[in-house]
Amino acid sequence: MSSTNRTAIRHDNDYYVTPLQTVADFFSVFRLLEPTFCLAEAHILDPSAGGDANSPMPYPSYLSSIGNRTVTTLDIRRDSKAAIKKDYLQWKSQRKFDAVITNPPFHAAIAFIQKALSEVRPGGFVCMLLRLNFLGSLKRKSFWLQYMPKWIIVHARRPSFVKGGNDSVEYAHIVWQKEYMPEHSRLVIILLRTVKNDATHSY
Ligand SMILES: C[S@@+](CC[C@H](N)C(=O)[O-])C[C@H]1O[C@@H](n2cnc3c(N)ncnc32)[C@H](O)[C@@H]1O
Repeated sequence: MSSTNRTAIRHDNDYYVTPLQTVADFFSVFRLLEPTFCLAEAHILDPSAGGDANSPMPYPSYLSSIGNRTVTTLDIRRDSKAAIKKDYLQWKSQRKFDAVITNPPFHAAIAFIQKALSEVRPGGFVCMLLRLNFLGSLKRKSFWLQYMPKWIIVHARRPSFVKGGNDSVEYAHIVWQKEYMPEHSRLVIILLRTVKNDATHSY
């Protein structure tokens, strides 16, 4: 959720639209960090895909733009553009995915991450856009001891969520790899905007 707008504009189900540029920045860097993972061919689940009459689903839109035709989209809202309208936490997947990637509802982020990790194949990825202060709470100590991320990809330029206003907190895409439990996470900072669709990278 955007903290700037948290009190001013209330959205049901923690619905905020991630800027397409933030999504493109993340994928551009992820593709460099994990060059053997073929994003265009991977079967990917976006379990809180978002979208509405005025906005596309940001992660599926990017993946579609690079030729991926196998993204499964799900969201709890009836007005979402997702193909499956369900509560992700109640939904039973019939298959394993190569990756689960989304900006989850902040109030249920831990539950989303744990469920996503149970639904990716060994070696697959779980990538979630989270506030940086998600890293800091002692109440999540047991979670971090069990699930150490591989990458923390910080967006130094804050995403502008609703109505174009910059949020007052920093965000990172946090990336876990199934069955890979590093002693430490690796930090990458995206300093400049990447050019759309990966022409150049600055991070
Ligand atoms: C922060 S928004 C992000 C939307 C979209 N991923 C994006 O990046 O613009 C969180 C989304 O989670 C959805 N959501 C909330 N609770 C959910 C649940 N239990 N199961 C599935 N989707 C949920 C909301 O409807 C909303 O679309």
